[in-house]
Amino acid sequence: MSEQQKAKPEDFDWDNLGFEYHDLPYRFRAYYKDGKWSEGGLETDANIPVNEAATGLHYGQNIFEGLKVYRRKDGGANLFRPDRNAKRLQNSADRLMMAPVPEELFLRALKEVAKANQDFIPPYGTGATLYLRPFEFGGGPVVGVHPADNYVFEVYATPVGAYYKGGLTPTAYVTNHYDRAAHGGTGAAKAGGNYGASMLAGDEAHKAGYSDVVYLDPRLHENIEELGSANFFGITKDGRFLTPKSPSILPSVTKYSLLAVAQELGLKAEETTISINDLDQFAEAGAMGTAAVISPVGSITHQGNKHVFYSETEVGPWTQKLYDRLTAIQYGDQEGPEGWAVDV
Ligand code: PLP
Ligand code: COI
Repeated sequence: MSEQQKAKPEDFDWDNLGFEYHDLPYRFRAYYKDGKWSEGGLETDANIPVNEAATGLHYGQNIFEGLKVYRRKDGGANLFRPDRNAKRLQNSADRLMMAPVPEELFLRALKEVAKANQDFIPPYGTGATLYLRPFEFGGGPVVGVHPADNYVFEVYATPVGAYYKGGLTPTAYVTNHYDRAAHGGTGAAKAGGNYGASMLAGDEAHKAGYSDVVYLDPRLHENIEELGSANFFGITKDGRFLTPKSPSILPSVTKYSLLAVAQELGLKAEETTISINDLDQFAEAGAMGTAAVISPVGSITHQGNKHVFYSETEVGPWTQKLYDRLTAIQYGDQEGPEGWAVDV
């Protein structure tokens, strides 16, 4: 790709950003070879030469992360709990038999990419952020089903707005017969294959007018797992913040943060089994994740029956409070627990 096609800050309408890829000037790459990681550094080319027998192309040795850079009011910028993403990428690497990226390398890469592309961190108050996408894949070459000897680690950046169209306006979700991950499979890893497995289900849901799929547990198809790109929460009528406990869902950084924020706000917070047949207990429901932030779930349609939560048009009061507190910590407007907001 030529340098002329690279994005420029003046190309962006910060208040109306979608969730899309843009080719920014810099990304960070490091290479694992002969049992060790290179120092790594910034590169300008968005394209990576890949061996045709790379395990990342054939056997699913590809894993990723997602986190955001938040522009503060004082002009600086924050990362949110990046150590959690570093650890999760290492856990994903262990599950896929890939070389783990050291936390120091991971954090250095995030900061270098954020600083090098700082003109692309959207202004404070727009609700837009600079999304960072760390990823790693097996560079091969291997033809049998075995882990690669070589790996590539990269972090690229792209400015983004809301993931689920509407932001804090509730949207509709639906269950279906597909699974994105197996019991004992790779659901708890952020592995590319889980997302490949979700595309057909997601496409059918989108074409039918829904925001995303509510996946059910792969053994019984009875309990809520998570959404295609976010974890699920419900707030009961008696003031409990509940979120599914399952070995086959992604351990969401936002989820663990909101479990703490919910307690702080006076809700009882708990990870537990949530039956799809027990939605009546909830006054409000939502999706939570880095991309989704907190997006109210207006309704879930299951086997043709539509269950409406708080409202199909208005965000509920608890969801609003959770959103306000979480985003205030992320943007540095309010002090949060130690280590959550990290200066870039
Ligand atoms: N579940 C899935 C399937 C996701 O893709 C994401 C997004 O990363 C999440 C949950 C939320 O995780 P986090 O809060 O760490 O972004
Ligand atoms: C994220 O929230 O970072 C995600 O990974 C969601 C999606 C864009 C895959």
